[in-house]
Amino acid sequence: MVRSSLCKQYHMQLSDSEKNDEKVWYQKQSLKNIGSCRFSMGAFPKYLQKPYRIYETMIHRCGSLLPRPIQVLDLCCGMGEFTFRIAELIHGTVLGVDYSAESIQVAVRELKKRQLSNLRFEVGDSEQCQFKDEFFDMICMSGSLSYLNLDVVLEKICRWLKPDGAFIAVDTYGYNPLFNLKRQLNYWFHYTTKQTVTGVPKKPTLDKIRSRFQSFEIEYCGTFAFMGPFLKYLIGEAYTAKWVDRLDDVFPFLKKYAFKFVFCAKGPKVQK
Ligand SMILES: C[S@@+](CC[C@H](N)C(=O)[O-])C[C@H]1O[C@@H](n2cnc3c(N)ncnc32)[C@H](O)[C@@H]1O
Repeated sequence: MVRSSLCKQYHMQLSDSEKNDEKVWYQKQSLKNIGSCRFSMGAFPKYLQKPYRIYETMIHRCGSLLPRPIQVLDLCCGMGEFTFRIAELIHGTVLGVDYSAESIQVAVRELKKRQLSNLRFEVGDSEQCQFKDEFFDMICMSGSLSYLNLDVVLEKICRWLKPDGAFIAVDTYGYNPLFNLKRQLNYWFHYTTKQTVTGVPKKPTLDKIRSRFQSFEIEYCGTFAFMGPFLKYLIGEAYTAKWVDRLDDVFPFLKKYAFKFVFCAKGPKVQK
C-alpha cells in the first residue's frame, strides 16, 4: 500500500530484482551497440533534437558563468552518449558514472579513440556512490530520472554540488497520451524497460526537485513531436523540425503534454 501511494506521488521505487532486471537490459543494449553507439543529439531525428539543444546550451552557459575550471558529473551516463559532448562544452573535468559495466566499457572504448584528457568513466550505482560533499560544480543527467529512487539520489546530488552548483537534466514528461501509448507498446514489444512506462517523470517529480534548489529554470518541448514520423514524408525532416519546434511557441498552454523537459536547478538546499 505504502509503495503504491509513493508510486503515484513520485515515481516507482524499484525492488532489488526489478533494479537488476533494468541493469541487465542496459547491459544487453550496450553489448548490441558496441561500435554503433551514436553520440549526442545526432542519435535523434531533427524534430526531436530541440530539448537536447537546450540541454547543451544550459550546460555551456552555466559552465561559462562559473569563474574557474569546473568539475562535472554525468550521472547515469550510459555509453557516454552525452558525456563526450559535455566534455567539449565545458572548461574543466567530466566524470561519467553508470551502473552498467558493459555501458562503461563502450564509453571507455570510445574515449580511447577520442583521447580526451578531461574525461573519465567509472562504474557506479547513483544511489550508492560516495563523493565528497561540495565537490561538483555541475551534475548532468539525460534520460535517467525514471530509474532512480529520487529521494536518495536528490539528497546526494544536493550534497555533492557546491553552493553555486547546478543540476541540469533532460528527460521525458509523462502526460502525453500518445507518447505514453508508444512507450507502453515499446515495453510490450520488448524495445524498452518497464521503468520507462511506470517511472516516467511527472509534475510531482519536478516539484520535488524544484523544492531542493534556490532557482529552477525549466523548458518544455515537443508537444507536437508525435507528428514528426508522418510529417517528415510530406515536407522533409528539416521543415518538420521547424514546425514541431514552432508549434511549442504557438501553443505554450499545451506544455503539460510536452514530450520532454529540460531544467537547470541552481543553488542546492542541503537538509541539515
Ligand atoms: C535511458 S539510459 C540514458 C543513458 C544516457 N544518459 C543517455 O542520455 O543516453 C538510462 C541509464 O541509466 C543507467 N542507470 C539506471 N539506474 C542507475 C543507477 N541506479 N545508477 C547508475 N546508473 C543507472 C542505466 O544503466 C542506463 O545507462
